[in-house]
Amino acid sequence: MQEYHVPVLLNPSVDALVHDPNGVYADATFGGGGHSRAILKKLSAKGKLIAFDRDDEALANAPDDKRFTLINHNFRFIKQFMRYGKMMPISGMLADLGISSHQINVGERGFAHRLEGPLDMRMDKKSVLSAADIINTYPEDKLKHIFKMWGEIPNAGRLASIICQSRTGQYIYTNEQFKKTIAPCTPKNTPAKYLSQVYQALRIEVNGEMQALEALLKASADCIGSGGHLVVISYHSLEDRMVKNFLQTGNFDGDRQTDMYGNVERPFDPEPNKAIVPDDLEINANNRARSAKMRIGVKR
Ligand SMILES: C[S@@+](CC[C@H](N)C(=O)[O-])C[C@H]1O[C@@H](n2cnc3c(N)ncnc32)[C@H](O)[C@@H]1O
Repeated sequence: MQEYHVPVLLNPSVDALVHDPNGVYADATFGGGGHSRAILKKLSAKGKLIAFDRDDEALANAPDDKRFTLINHNFRFIKQFMRYGKMMPISGMLADLGISSHQINVGERGFAHRLEGPLDMRMDKKSVLSAADIINTYPEDKLKHIFKMWGEIPNAGRLASIICQSRTGQYIYTNEQFKKTIAPCTPKNTPAKYLSQVYQALRIEVNGEMQALEALLKASADCIGSGGHLVVISYHSLEDRMVKNFLQTGNFDGDRQTDMYGNVERPFDPEPNKAIVPDDLEINANNRARSAKMRIGVKR
């Protein structure tokens, strides 16, 4: 059987997160539970771990451990759950963003352009918006905007125009149909790279990923107690820029505001200031690790 997910930067992330074995921790992105199981190993009998995943297929991976709770919900509401459970302040929060190998390897989920399947890409199968809805109903200027913003696609305007021209009278609902539709603007020499950018843009829009990350980062500042750690692993530059700006400046524009003594006003101190990346050994063993960047913040 194929493994659900191989955790990335497992030891460095968990070592950076857990400093108090009796503490309460949050794993915002449970997935296959590799990070959660490693966190539980570091906790004492008094410690607690609250994990989140919006995909109900992740629920089957939950460890049977009374210190552990898995919440099948969007992590953008993490603060409300922590407050309701009287868990605050917590000792640390981990977010290993994006999707799991399981999600990308199953064609019916529609996340992979290389597999046959529907244009779906919903992490939460109960949510209403699918990639097909976007492709078939968004106006041209909105399509151009998401391809430019979330995929950083150079010919976003032409791509949006080709989609809108071709959809008159026919509904595009599979990967095959979609790839055929956009073939005229897909570069012949690097089709996989281009399609990955297009699919990234659609996935981010379907799941509201940037809005959820912004909400999570803001919530982390309210949930984590002084001296606690925020650890975020991201897989593309849009996410990493958001995390970096937030840790370095306390806002998402990277605009440094200082108090009257010249100290930057921010909830976390980035430690270290640079992103940590997997070594060659990990990348050779797990190709999904190649784009990972981990940032750590210590709550002031
Ligand atoms: C890269 S995987 C995490 C893998 C995990 N660390 C492990 O060791 O198996 C990301 C997971 O986060 C979930 N996820 C992504 N965005 C989410 C959100 N806004 N709320 C809740 N879960 C989310 C996905 O469904 C996926 O299972």
